[in-house]
Amino acid sequence: MNWTQLDWKCLDRLRGTFLAGSPTEEAYWQSPSDLANYDLTFGERIGWKWDAVLDELELRGWRPPAGPVLDWGCGSGVAGRRVLRRFGASSFGSIAFWDRSALATDFAHDATQREFPGLDVSTATPGYLRSQEPIGLLLISHVLNELPPSAMEEIRSLVVRSRSVVWTEPGTREVSRALGALRDAWAPEVPVVAPCTHAHSCPVLAAGNERHWCHFFGFPPPGVLADSDWVKFAQRAGIDLRSLPYSFLALDRSWKAPTHLSRVIGRPEHFKPYARLLNCDASGLAELSVMKRGNPALFKELDKSKRPLVYAWTRQGEVITGGSHVAP
Ligand SMILES: C[S@@+](CC[C@H](N)C(=O)[O-])C[C@H]1O[C@@H](n2cnc3c(N)ncnc32)[C@H](O)[C@@H]1O
Repeated sequence: MNWTQLDWKCLDRLRGTFLAGSPTEEAYWQSPSDLANYDLTFGERIGWKWDAVLDELELRGWRPPAGPVLDWGCGSGVAGRRVLRRFGASSFGSIAFWDRSALATDFAHDATQREFPGLDVSTATPGYLRSQEPIGLLLISHVLNELPPSAMEEIRSLVVRSRSVVWTEPGTREVSRALGALRDAWAPEVPVVAPCTHAHSCPVLAAGNERHWCHFFGFPPPGVLADSDWVKFAQRAGIDLRSLPYSFLALDRSWKAPTHLSRVIGRPEHFKPYARLLNCDASGLAELSVMKRGNPALFKELDKSKRPLVYAWTRQGEVITGGSHVAP
């Protein structure tokens, strides 16, 4: 599949389904070609969000455990392949894919086996999903708003068997807050690696913070904004390529969280004399400011940085007086 072979009828139909964003009875993949179209376009864009999530996890010092990987609700298998590329196939013994659509599971399996010929790649069976076999890393991506309660039960039982979980979703208010509620339910059992820098209840979900949601922005790879194929695709699909909002949750049973860090939520806003940002840390959510005059380098970094905004601040009340970005 390449850009000259795109099937717009198929992409328009898929986009309509994703925008509807509600549980559907029917699997919407109609042919392997649907998945190939998705993988080159919408799926690749989701891959950029995974790149940002994996950047942050590496920044925090997290490495995946060396057990089997399961990509649940895999679609074309973007999440699994992104993780394998980042950490190397040899970091994991095997990867299994599962989707309610056999077309999707087969596509993800074949694409992954082609890219990682030596790896043990399989399609998960219903028996495996019901079993108690340990899972090293459970991957879930862009599926939350499609799930009926029965599927959420299945995911809960998989989390119980998993050493670590990485779940990436769009950065919309509704989906992010739903993921936050799952985070609060699981955090007492499985420590949170990110986005949180603390183990307390999610402050975004506390009374009075209804207007907030935990989300971040990724960046497309260099060259994409000037690539005529991507520009044409984005125009036709009604997507702003410069904006890549996502939410995510990473859990790991062996994680020991450092407690002095802060995570900037969303994007800092820059005004002439100062920048304002929403900060999350162990003391909760706070709107903080950075004065340009006192901290010109930090002021600029908060505007330009493409790294996940995880900092150790020095503060006087609501004013940040200095900060060092977390390095891996
Ligand atoms: C928007 S696609 C995302 C695919 C892929 N995870 C990604 O991030 O590119 C959602 C996927 O979830 C699958 N799905 C939806 N409901 C499901 C369920 N109840 N059980 C398993 N898979 C499901 C769909 O078939 C589809 O492949």
